[in-house]
Parts: sequence; C-alpha cells; structure tokens
Amino acid sequence: MTKIHVTDASGAKHIVEAPNGDSLMSALLNAGIEGILADCGGGCACATCHCYIEGDGMDLVGEVNAIENVMLDSAATERRDNSRLSCQIDVSDALDGLQVTVAENA
Ligand code: FES
Repeated sequence: MTKIHVTDASGAKHIVEAPNGDSLMSALLNAGIEGILADCGGGCACATCHCYIEGDGMDLVGEVNAIENVMLDSAATERRDNSRLSCQIDVSDALDGLQVTVAENA
C-alpha cells in the first residue's frame, strides 16, 4: 500500500491507501474521492479523472503519453503544467507521499 495525500474537488484533504499496481484513478475512485468520475473506466478517453500533481511529484509519475496529451487538452478544467489523467498513473512504492489535487471534473 502506498499513501497518497489527496485534496478533493471540494478542497477536503484525505490520505488514501492505494494498492500498488492499481491506477491512481482506481485508488481514488475506490476511496470515494469527490471529483473523480472516470466515465470511461480508465481508457484514457474521457479526462474526467483529471488531477494536478503537486510539488516535485511530477518527477515521480512518469511522462504524459501521446493519447493522454490529447485528452488533457479537452479536459473540463484548465490544463496546467502539473496536469495528469490519474488513470494513466500506476501506483507503486515510489509514489508514497505523493500529493494530488483533484480537478473539477463534473
Ligand atoms: S478515466 Fe477516462 S481518461 Fe481517465
């Protein structure tokens, strides 16, 4: 389990125990985090799992892939330098302590 520090879409803070090997989206969805809709089920086709990776976390979560890059441009909320689709991030020990803010995805 990896601890992810999450600020949800309403500004509430949570610590999510995320199973290694799951996507970050799945971990947030299963924890009932407000703002994660994941309408496409993790297929990188909806951008309703948009989140912002805080601090130096972008160094830990890997690169944005080509499809994700296109989808981020169509996200309902502003794309920023630290934008990611949480379904495209795999949870591992390396992400322990990661800080994530969920975008307004509705
Ligand atoms: S769940 Fe649809 S793009 Fe991530």
